Amino acid sequence: MRLVVTGRDGQVAASLLEAGQAAAGVEVIAIGRPQLDLARPDTVIEAIAAAKPDIVVSAAAYTAVDQAEDEPDLAFAVNAVGAGKVAQAAAELGVPIIHLSTDYVFDGTAPGAYVETDATAPRSVYGASKLAGEQAVASANPRHLILRTAWVYSPFGKNFVKTMLRLAADREEIA
Ligand SMILES: NC(=O)c1ccc[n+]([C@@H]2O[C@H](COP(=O)([O-])OP(=O)(O)OC[C@H]3O[C@@H](n4cnc5c(N)ncnc54)[C@H](OP(=O)(O)O)[C@@H]3O)[C@@H](O)[C@H]2O)c1
Repeated sequence: MRLVVTGRDGQVAASLLEAGQAAAGVEVIAIGRPQLDLARPDTVIEAIAAAKPDIVVSAAAYTAVDQAEDEPDLAFAVNAVGAGKVAQAAAELGVPIIHLSTDYVFDGTAPGAYVETDATAPRSVYGASKLAGEQAVASANPRHLILRTAWVYSPFGKNFVKTMLRLAADREEIA
């Protein structure tokens, strides 16, 4: 089976590439810029078709949460329009898509854990762009699975765990 993941150097893509090396019967192919640029929708269909997927994992995204407040157009182009194009590409090939989304689609005020049917209410540009991406994916490809994860940790790239480990090694106290 050929699993094609978007975002070559991202945490999820790098982790899937590593896992694919140990998994029998699964070939993982990661595609990223410049071949696949979510901000340039014209690149997406061709790049995904060329990779000949049996399944697509849509992991590439504009993930700079704070910066997105100053770059809403780019965040929406990548996370909404671009994600929708990835789902369209998978649909045209007749294959399913797993799309990574975020808990930022919620406002965080619920007293307990969220379920899929809870009302969304993003409070940030990033959250709103990811919610628009969910809607674009769902309408472009009926064979979709959307994962609203809260944190992604891996040995690759930047993440909260690595930041905390670094700060803990350097400082007596962390505010
Ligand atoms: N990290 C978290 O804690 C977290 C939490 C909840 C949800 N998520 C979601 O989980 C998914 C994976 O997150 P991650 O932590 O693996 O992200 P990441 O490490 O920040 O990687 C994002 C990837 O997206 C690529 N990308 C950005 N803009 C692009 C564009 N215009 N065209 C093509 N590729 C582009 C980046 O490419 P370059 O390497 O070229 O920059 C990078 O490979 C994302 O959808 C994110 O929204 C993440």
